[in-house]
Amino acid sequence: MENCDQPGKPGTSPALKNQATRLRDIKPFYVMEILERAFALERSGRSVIHLEVGEPDFPTPAPVVEAGMRALREGKTRYVQALGIDELRARIAARYPPPCRPPSERVAVTPGSSGAFQLIFGSLINAGDEVLLTDPGYPCNANFVRLYEGKPKLVACDATAGYQFTADAIKTAWTERTKAVLIGTPSNPTGTSVPPDEMTRIVETVDRLGGTLIVDEIYHGLTYDSDVRTALYDSDRAFIVNSFSKYFGMTGWRVGWLVMPSAFIDGITKLAQNLFISTSTPVQFAALRALEEDVIAELERRRNVFRQRRDFLVPALRELGFKVPVMPQGAFYVYADCSAFTGDSYSFALDVLASTGVAIAPGKDFGRHRQHEHVRFSYANTQDMLQQAVERLAEYLRDKQSAS
Ligand SMILES: Cc1ncc(COP(=O)(O)O)c(C=O)c1O
Repeated sequence: MENCDQPGKPGTSPALKNQATRLRDIKPFYVMEILERAFALERSGRSVIHLEVGEPDFPTPAPVVEAGMRALREGKTRYVQALGIDELRARIAARYPPPCRPPSERVAVTPGSSGAFQLIFGSLINAGDEVLLTDPGYPCNANFVRLYEGKPKLVACDATAGYQFTADAIKTAWTERTKAVLIGTPSNPTGTSVPPDEMTRIVETVDRLGGTLIVDEIYHGLTYDSDVRTALYDSDRAFIVNSFSKYFGMTGWRVGWLVMPSAFIDGITKLAQNLFISTSTPVQFAALRALEEDVIAELERRRNVFRQRRDFLVPALRELGFKVPVMPQGAFYVYADCSAFTGDSYSFALDVLASTGVAIAPGKDFGRHRQHEHVRFSYANTQDMLQQAVERLAEYLRDKQSAS
């Protein structure tokens, strides 16, 4: 049957024809295909090493879980303020050191940073407005822009600039339809960051162009060589996005935050009231506990473990023949150039999984630019598993070489 997968097209199957055309433009996550195959292998008794996942392997710290349960027991189960409970907004604001500490009115608690992006794009984008995004980058952002009828404009960012935007690259890509630019630092999938002086130049450039800067700082806290400075240091006009998902180990709780420019407080409040009513109440009390000193001490210990894993995995992958031109400074990803082995990173990822049981994410999940030459390794797995994965890959690549 022709066209039966085309939402909104006349003549398609009755179940599909009423679907909005925008669904056509929303991309699936290809890594889910890898994940499904990995689960199938596990069900058949094979040992699988998961290096495809985008979440910490550590559990949520016990005091945070306890605080969430206490909130439930105490009946903290009703709607609260649309932008979050006051204590949590104040504690989040206090995480930012002076001079860039925002007033807590500028902080909104959201259902994950994914909720924050919906509020931001919903309050910024008119139909046809362009948003500049790095390619490679976190794929959902383009889909959010599309959902609000905007135009995601992927800008190729090479290793020479650490896979990140520079002020010059933004200037070159800017058109009269550009409304905003989004930067993830440290980035998913590359783990690379924008250096502080470049961020200052970017802020000045975006201001001069009359646009809005959005900075995704969800991997702040998970940086290994030096702390990455928040873009709030440079601007009170930018949107800053963060989350309890990654550093705090709370992916499934669905709680994040944004810091917004003052001018947007009323608009974002209206949108939050309508979209979410409020973020889960018990979860906000758990998040509040996550900001206390004893929990942070545990998270800092975990940060050191991630650093050790990175320091093992990057040289090991280079030794195997993957190119990692820029040392990732943060997150838990290595974006590796696999062009020495393949011209099709998706088939490569599938073949690596089938042959070795090592699951990795294909480049095509993260954009178009040189996607076929890259795969993403996540080191959200134990040192022992990373070691085993490297051994399995070494054998696989040796066999591949001797077969060719
Ligand atoms: C760069 C980046 N931004 C945002 C998100 C969404 O995170 P959450 O909605 O769990 O806060 C992710 C998740 O992987 C991510 O990698």
